[in-house]
Amino acid sequence: MRIVSGIQPTGNLHLGNYLGAIRNWVLMQDEWTAKGATCLYFLADLHAISMPHQPATLAENTREMVAALVSCGIDPDKSILFNQAQVPAHAELQWLLNGTARMGWLNRMTQWKDKAGKNREGASVALFTYPVLQAADVLLYQATHVPVGEDQKQHLELARDIAQKFNNDFASEEAPVFTLPDPIIPPEAARIMSLRDGSAKMSKSDPSDMSRINLTDDADAIMQKVKKAKTDPEPLPSEAAGLEGRPEARNLVGIYAAFSGRDVASILAEFGGQGFGSFKPALGDLLVDKLEPIAERYRALRIDRSALDAILAKGAEKARVLATPTLEAAYGALGL
Ligand code: ADP
Ligand code: NA
Repeated sequence: MRIVSGIQPTGNLHLGNYLGAIRNWVLMQDEWTAKGATCLYFLADLHAISMPHQPATLAENTREMVAALVSCGIDPDKSILFNQAQVPAHAELQWLLNGTARMGWLNRMTQWKDKAGKNREGASVALFTYPVLQAADVLLYQATHVPVGEDQKQHLELARDIAQKFNNDFASEEAPVFTLPDPIIPPEAARIMSLRDGSAKMSKSDPSDMSRINLTDDADAIMQKVKKAKTDPEPLPSEAAGLEGRPEARNLVGIYAAFSGRDVASILAEFGGQGFGSFKPALGDLLVDKLEPIAERYRALRIDRSALDAILAKGAEKARVLATPTLEAAYGALGL
């Protein structure tokens, strides 16, 4: 069994990135490697160039993401952690698959329609063809399982269609070149809201630093931000239904639930009827307790560029070994 999953390298990581994305990778790593599977996790730096991007920060964002992933529990000895750009087989296989993918298939991708908007003529060719790169990303490793959120289901279907057509057109039934990967539904990701506005997502692009808890924040900053978090004047309800129409309260209780592993009902059974004056310090303590060890590892790792580069180089080396037989089989099948 092989699991392959990618994440865009972004900088300024925060609590939302941790609970919404990174933590799921750690959970999957632990669950699937225990079943004997190999997890391949890659930073999608090749995908980053399909949209306008900053060359000066791309490599740093990749390093930042590696530091965050390792600090949060991705173990480079357990999982294969690497970036696409160091494994040329991704780009090579994409070109080979471009011969099999149909224009009509790509034209139907809703993400292409959404992201290109009205300016299709001005969109990059990469934005149109990146679902083929995504297909290469997983087919290259004979992935058996790929975690997909709602928005990626269509792209995994496309990868299966490409694999099937390639196998049909260029390989025998007994010796297919590609494995058709099955989707797995990742553990439900929390959607974390801004600490300053319960209707906005916690985001690195929010100009107010008080709106988010960064993975680099120290204990004082975490306590301050929780203390200043926007709330309403009512005490906490004693049942979940009472959070209806109270987005700030719901968000803070949700964060407490995510970090404590307790359900909302049990948290409200404890804190219901009390004001935020008693809940916020409890939440702050919990966050410091859970995040400080991560933040400490992160701060130490983030400044050690050569250690981060070494992790990526080692991961890329392992990935190349797994990629080579498939790439060679694809060239051979095409008569190249
Ligand atoms: P940002 O919104 O800060 O720009 P990105 O868009 O770069 O973050 O997202 C990187 C990953 O983190 C994605 O998988 C995204 O779903 C997740 N993520 C970002 N913000 C949140 C949030 N507030 N709650 C849950 N998940 C989030
Ligand atoms: Na974003």
